[in-house]
Amino acid sequence: MARLKLGVLFSGRGTNLQAILDVCQNPSFPAEIALALSNKPDAPGLLRAQDAGVATSVINHKDFLDRPSFEQAMNERLDEAGVELICLAGFMRLLTPIFVNHWDGRAINIHPSLLPAYPGLHTHERAINDGARFAGCTVHFLSAEMDAGPIIAQAATPIRAIDTPDSLAARVLEAEHEIYRRAIRWVAEGRITQQDGRVMIDGAGEDASFYLPTVD
Ligand code: GAR
Repeated sequence: MARLKLGVLFSGRGTNLQAILDVCQNPSFPAEIALALSNKPDAPGLLRAQDAGVATSVINHKDFLDRPSFEQAMNERLDEAGVELICLAGFMRLLTPIFVNHWDGRAINIHPSLLPAYPGLHTHERAINDGARFAGCTVHFLSAEMDAGPIIAQAATPIRAIDTPDSLAARVLEAEHEIYRRAIRWVAEGRITQQDGRVMIDGAGEDASFYLPTVD
């Protein structure tokens, strides 16, 4: 069976990209990366993709006069590469309807909080400062609103009294990698449907809610 062609978009270190590169090495995984695309020419994730022999591209937002022309260029590059599913993996640019509408139902994002709590930046620091008892991460379909859209999978982990934003981020990141792989598999296997803003996953049961215990 043909594997679903992914376009992975990132701006930085690329550990989520790495998790996707790793799982796609397995020929039985139902997806493969057609293009790893960064808006930053110095993003370390570019080397990860090159090391794995995956096609890379840089479209630097600073080379464009406005967001629509930047996003139009990304759409064209991703279409040329035959991309069928966009995976945002630490892509730190706000996206307008030029991009969002083009990939409607065909783009997913990972975010380091239990959405709809804490969209935006510094999620772990904000959760600790609020005295929240759980933190986590979410994979969701892209929508016009930042870090919002129908939720596919979430992982939760307790916040300990000794946690710092960095220790919490490190724990959540492990879970990010795991739920992103699962979500991509479900999309690629055609097991996901949406109704009234809710996501149904055929046969996935409780795999879409993942609990990450603290390990001492
Ligand atoms: C990840 O924690 C991801 O969830 C977050 O950026 C980080 C990228 O790390 N994304 C967002 O905050 C999106 N709003 P990575 O480059 O190591 O994958």
